[in-house]
Amino acid sequence: MKDEATLVIIKPDGLKKSLTGNILTRLSETKLRIVGAKVVKVAEELARKHYHHLQEKPFFSELLKYITGEPYGENRVLALVYAGENAIEKVRQIAGTTNPEEADPVSVRGAYGRILTNGLYENVIHASSSSEEAEREIELWFRPDEIV
Ligand code: PPS
Repeated sequence: MKDEATLVIIKPDGLKKSLTGNILTRLSETKLRIVGAKVVKVAEELARKHYHHLQEKPFFSELLKYITGEPYGENRVLALVYAGENAIEKVRQIAGTTNPEEADPVSVRGAYGRILTNGLYENVIHASSSSEEAEREIELWFRPDEIV
């Protein structure tokens, strides 16, 4: 068992489709602690840094538009940090696998995600994939004094 923290982002489609309360309820099943939470207006620079490892992917520019909310006229996301034992795995269980069509239908991505005709996943929620990524992402999205 590892005591760790993980970053969750409820993406612009999650906010626009009024899924926030439902997603938070699902995440509360993990019994993890929320140690950071804020609404963020996502600038392109933040989006580029967050997804820097994907810059060579064919869907990168569409991914930036999605997380900055362009298709939804909604450039806000809800960023959260959950902490506790095995936080990364517990949150990813509720989130479901990255591809919404392969995700468990009762997971957040399985229930609410979709794949656009251009191949982009709109999967409603981001969840850190490893402890290294979680550390990097939390530092990118939150100042130390915003983690309580
Ligand atoms: S993971 O699950 O985070 O480890 O996946 P990773 O490969 O690091 O991140 C992929 C992110 O790009 C988003 N995305 C896609 N991935 C693969 N194929 C397609 N077509 C695609 N479209 C978008 C995917 O949702 C991951 O972002 P997050 O925010 O983690 O969901």
